Amino acid sequence: FSADDFATWVIDWQQQQGRHDLPWQQDVSPYKVLVSELMLQQTQVSTVIPYFERWMTAFPDISQLAQASQEQVMGLWQGLGYYARARNLHKAAIAITERGRFPDDLVSLQQIPGIGRYTAGAIMSFAYDSYGPIVDGNVRRLFCRLFALEGSPGQSALEKQLWQLAEQLTPQHHNRRFAQALLDLGATVCKARQPGCQDCPLQTVCLAHQQDRVAELPTPKVK
Ligand code: ADE
Repeated sequence: FSADDFATWVIDWQQQQGRHDLPWQQDVSPYKVLVSELMLQQTQVSTVIPYFERWMTAFPDISQLAQASQEQVMGLWQGLGYYARARNLHKAAIAITERGRFPDDLVSLQQIPGIGRYTAGAIMSFAYDSYGPIVDGNVRRLFCRLFALEGSPGQSALEKQLWQLAEQLTPQHHNRRFAQALLDLGATVCKARQPGCQDCPLQTVCLAHQQDRVAELPTPKVK
């Protein structure tokens, strides 16, 4: 199948079955995407929602976050875990405020401390509705199954392959919907346990499904 086919399938599915009511999807801004994406790394949506809302009340824009004390920032993050994310978010806010303007391309986004390849792609897609490939745990699981990729998460050969696929499959239009489609499909259909293959728009082209290997892909992490 072509990259255009893929984008059409998942975008149509997102329109019908995806999530449209998440708080960071309302009145979207680069700052809201930055905050929500850092909170959503390692933490599920239902846990993040109340934290995100409290955060936006306390720090409604990036300069207010930049001016906040470390104590205020850590206090609002308290309970979400992985506290390096909060320090990174604070550092990113300071760097962006000093820079004067929120970066709006993949290269300048990744020059901000705390913004890596995934977050840069997410900000391009969600905030600017522009080209921004993303690979997170959801996308990794989806692609490993779709293309029957071997290898464990974190292995550099696999990661390289996943990013290449993401770059090739990401369209030049409808990027907000496309990125949300990948994350929603991974989180609600192509789940780690009990995947809902009968509800998947990619079922007929999924190599893992064709080979009856959905349960064994992706290969579990070696400890
Ligand atoms: N996980 C990471 N980013 C997300 C988003 N924008 N919506 C839902 N789940 C996500």
